[in-house]
Amino acid sequence: MRVLVACEFSGKVRDAFLKLGHDAMSCDLLPTESPGPHYEGDVFDVIDDGWDMMVAHPPCTYLANSGVRWLYKQGTKDHNEERWADMRTAAKFFTALLASDIEKIAVENPTPHRHAGLPPYTQAIQPYEYGHPESKRTCLWLRNLPPLVPTQVITENIQQSIWRYPPSPHRWKLRSETFQGIADAMAEQWGFLCPNCGADETTDHPDGESGWCPACEQRVE
Ligand SMILES: C[S@@+](CC[C@H](N)C(=O)[O-])C[C@H]1O[C@@H](n2cnc3c(N)ncnc32)[C@H](O)[C@@H]1O
Repeated sequence: MRVLVACEFSGKVRDAFLKLGHDAMSCDLLPTESPGPHYEGDVFDVIDDGWDMMVAHPPCTYLANSGVRWLYKQGTKDHNEERWADMRTAAKFFTALLASDIEKIAVENPTPHRHAGLPPYTQAIQPYEYGHPESKRTCLWLRNLPPLVPTQVITENIQQSIWRYPPSPHRWKLRSETFQGIADAMAEQWGFLCPNCGADETTDHPDGESGWCPACEQRVE
């Protein structure tokens, strides 16, 4: 599959798809921090280049519920107009990604606030469901992709992801990198191709067993 990983400097999701044999490229205004196929520039320069799937991580600063208070001048109900304008621009970017002409799309962001007016998300996931003892609620907006299934649920000693890194100029980057366990689950679950015929989904067999390819009607390991 040709996979575009939009708004990714870390290379985490791109490399997880590459590892499984897909033709993946990341794209960000910033250079990639992990050498590999990367377009440094605006995602809309490359979005129409014939991708089968896009996984996108658009900026959340103006959309996330955790920052909703900044929409108002401190201690008042007066709008911080600059912030509202930035929020509208960010929401437009987000919805343009979700509406792009690519068959399979996943857009990822923290829980948004209601003023952003984003469409309803498909599912919410946590790093502690994918092998990391951290809590950071992340929403996924999915088109033609199944919800992710947890791969390794951790139940003890879970810390709030926000406390993981001390203040520094690079903290936003460290905090925004996709967790490895989530990147791997995306590639393994969404990048699945039937080894017999190359079809891209499995279902349960009519007799109830899982791992059945409806295209070639064979069992898939
Ligand atoms: C929240 S970070 C996502 C980081 C990602 N999870 C990772 O592991 O690299 C959002 C990214 O979107 C990028 N970005 C913003 N506008 C963009 C655009 N028009 N085209 C491509 N990338 C853009 C920013 O540079 C930033 O790195």
